[in-house]
Amino acid sequence: MDAASLLDRFPRVALVNGATPIQRLRRLENALHPQLGATRLFIKRDDLMALGGGGSKLRKLEFLLGEALVQGADTLIATGLRQSNSTRLAAAAAAHLGLRADLGLRARSPLDSGEYESGGNALLAELFGAVVHSLSEDADVKSFAAERVAALAREGRTAYVIPAGASSPLGSLGYVAAALEIAQQERALGFEFDRVIVANGSSGTHAGLLAGFALLGRRERVHGYSVLHEAAGAQAATLALARGALDLLGRDNPLTAADVTVSDACRGPGYGHATQEAIDAIHLLGAREGLLLDPVYGGKAFAGLLKEARTGALKSWPNVLFLFTGGTPALQAYRDELLSAAASQA
Ligand SMILES: Cc1ncc(COP(=O)(O)O)c(C=O)c1O
Repeated sequence: MDAASLLDRFPRVALVNGATPIQRLRRLENALHPQLGATRLFIKRDDLMALGGGGSKLRKLEFLLGEALVQGADTLIATGLRQSNSTRLAAAAAAHLGLRADLGLRARSPLDSGEYESGGNALLAELFGAVVHSLSEDADVKSFAAERVAALAREGRTAYVIPAGASSPLGSLGYVAAALEIAQQERALGFEFDRVIVANGSSGTHAGLLAGFALLGRRERVHGYSVLHEAAGAQAATLALARGALDLLGRDNPLTAADVTVSDACRGPGYGHATQEAIDAIHLLGAREGLLLDPVYGGKAFAGLLKEARTGALKSWPNVLFLFTGGTPALQAYRDELLSAAASQA
């Protein structure tokens, strides 16, 4: 059975409207000469999806919501921080499917700002009609979810709990599918990407890509920049999820820790803290290409790509693909940081 047929065995809800485009970043390439050498830089636009403002979580939700509907769920429960893209897109998907969404949004904020509290993703979740429960910084989200499931059951409702960041082996299948999509796009382009760079948070995106490329017999091309865990923790989480995804697909598991490349060099002081180099990356990609990275995920991963480009480390890879996972709504929450930090030019 081929890799695509393995995925077809899972219930799936269509939330992503077709293959997302891959574009070349020619003006950025020019800005990075001569250190970039002849390397060509491409970006895959997983921010460009029709539903809910788009972003990587929709790919994972296709499989998670497939399971939810088979289980007869009429309500989704999702938890995260107030600027969570995952909960925003769970709310949008719920609205699209006529389900109720209960979100538990924790108060912990890397930023002490009203915009972080109620702008950006938090605002969009409200607009998608979600029932928002404000949780304290130290709330136990698993207990919250279990209590909501029980309370909703008493009202005759059936709830489905979305894992944190939509990252579980099942959710990661969304990025197994994305790896197959990239391989198809490579066939149309007439070349293969040597290196795929992606932000690693709850690790499901990186893990799915890794498992998907492993199915195709190509294991050493994904490079994650961790925005949450330190490198060893991110590597372990990514490996566990990738192996879990391959297990679900019933495929032999060739993956070991050596196959998981994760760096925490661009994480900065911690999750959600915008770094100067991420802010510079956002300004650079905005001014050179008209694209909007976010400070939590894409900005940090792209800062990693830029560092590699500027030290000449990317020279040995002829074709580099950055997976742009979305997250643009959070830009508004980081308005002051983005404007006050003087952006250095390429
Ligand atoms: C915009 C964006 N990019 C990247 C990621 C990281 O993906 P993962 O959690 O699968 O590692 C997330 C996760 O929340 C995200 O929202």
